Amino acid sequence: MKKSKYSALIIGSGIAGLFAALELSKYKNLHDGILIISKGKLDEGSSKHAQGGMVAVMEDNKKDTVESHIKDTLVSGCGLSEFGTVENISTNSCYAVEKLLSYGVKFDCDENNNLKFTLEGAHSVPRILHCGGDATGFGIESGLLSAVKNKSDISIYENTMAIELLKDKTERIKGAIIYNSQNCSYEAVISSCVILATGGMGQLYKYTTNPYVATADGQAIAYRAGAKLRDMEFMQFHPTSLAIDKYNNRFLISEALRGEGAKLVDLDGNQFMAKYDKRKELATRDIVTRAIYSEMQNLKYHNMYLDITHHSKEFLQKRFPTIFNMCLENHIDISKDLIPVSPAAHYSMGGVETDANGKTNLDGLFAIGEVASSGLHGANRLASNSLLECVVMADNLVKSLKDYNFTCSDIIDEKVLNIMKKYQQTDYENEVQKTNIYELKTRLKNIMWNNVGIIRSQITLKKALNEIADIEKEFNSDGVCSNKEEYELANMITVSKLIAESALNREESRGSHYREDFPFQKEEAEHTYIKRGIENNGEIFTS
Ligand code: FAD
Ligand code: SIN
Repeated sequence: MKKSKYSALIIGSGIAGLFAALELSKYKNLHDGILIISKGKLDEGSSKHAQGGMVAVMEDNKKDTVESHIKDTLVSGCGLSEFGTVENISTNSCYAVEKLLSYGVKFDCDENNNLKFTLEGAHSVPRILHCGGDATGFGIESGLLSAVKNKSDISIYENTMAIELLKDKTERIKGAIIYNSQNCSYEAVISSCVILATGGMGQLYKYTTNPYVATADGQAIAYRAGAKLRDMEFMQFHPTSLAIDKYNNRFLISEALRGEGAKLVDLDGNQFMAKYDKRKELATRDIVTRAIYSEMQNLKYHNMYLDITHHSKEFLQKRFPTIFNMCLENHIDISKDLIPVSPAAHYSMGGVETDANGKTNLDGLFAIGEVASSGLHGANRLASNSLLECVVMADNLVKSLKDYNFTCSDIIDEKVLNIMKKYQQTDYENEVQKTNIYELKTRLKNIMWNNVGIIRSQITLKKALNEIADIEKEFNSDGVCSNKEEYELANMITVSKLIAESALNREESRGSHYREDFPFQKEEAEHTYIKRGIENNGEIFTS
């Protein structure tokens, strides 16, 4: 097996990973260079697909203040956001925008070259910046990618998946085993600093807005290495995905449409949001999602509808070009027709617990972006706070590593060698796939959607855990798999169990986690922590 050495290994090339790489490359003491690995093509993550925008509290937006953004974020987080992290990220938002501009990112401006701000659910004022109308993620990701490609000290591997973290006798993370899915080869990357930026886990659910790479790999490998995970039960379901199932995920109909006055209606055009919340279409995501879900159940509808026909075709084509064209491809002219929408798994608030600098409980391991639970989002993420978190957390992390020792020793201890040996002993390349992985993945996604979805209960969660155990038995993997699909399935099984167990443990309803057997929010807000126990069973505790 090939062995290599890098000063920093960054796993994931979304906005969090790319931004961290660019900032790290400014330090002069990374003598062995930086390696970014990406499971698919470099730009294939959630970042590229982000539509609505990025929150920024800008000095020239006279209507806005950091205090107001903090308040909105805390209200949305339902008592589980960490004040220090929220304050830090909000305060640094203006700086984050300046940094992005310096990397060539272009936000939409008006005719006087002033930044344009839009409104989304549960924000008190318009404070969301966007690029290309509704292509914000694409605008930021491509700006950062061009900058990274110009850096000679940053190496890049595409189609390469991290499958296990290397941990030494002192419990320090020393790198990772990576797997190239094109030539089926393994490599041990030794590094004194491993930055997980692997994104989310929407692909655990039948309906999701997330791309195919979002299979919870980062959460799974960190958990197996002993990282502490937090609040895994909080999966955000976006209220309005396009209810057409001809792709392997659902296309998003941005919340920004509701920010521009779109109404949720039934097939006859009747509005219904006033029954659920006085903020109507601009209530927090959990409320809008449950309202749509409940209307769909009551009316036995496959979906509800979004009506933005009060705007002209010219306005919609300019403001929402991606959405306009995608709908048109599906024979929906949004200037005339209702858009069929229904909820889909969208964002994971839980993840690897970190402080505001991305530090985990394991030395040498850092986590940033959606894979992390930094304390910003609590039980429910406020719209467009995620891209901001990716940039500020990556920046905070790099600043905190100013005096870090990036030198990695050539001496590899026995524990690390034993992990490496596991991947040397068999010729996995020629192994025949034993089980139908696609069928098992589909079953798992159905179980998660039906039982660990928008509405949960003790009965559905226990059912899910039993059915996941059956899948695990059929899969029968002992940790080493023979291809990317198998590694993904192993990760999906691990993390699905963690979500179901954490959801079972939380006997209340809070934010995105709704238990029909415990419909009320407890007075005291507690986090759920989960850490691998000595005998491999997850150990759940709350505080
Ligand atoms: P990602 O961008 O998801 O990148 C993860 C990277 O990790 C990818 O390169 C992937 O290939 C790689 N990876 C995964 N596993 C492995 C592995 N085992 N080994 C190697 N590499 C791996 N947020 C907002 O704030 N505003 C928005 O408008 C917005 N719109 C959204 C629209 C959509 C359709 C979606 C899906 C999300 C949206 N979000 C939005 C959320 C936001 O886009 C994401 O939370 C954010 O982009 C995550 O960035 P990231 O860098 O953490 O991860
Ligand atoms: C959207 O555009 O609705 C997505 C915004 C987000 O996920 O923050």
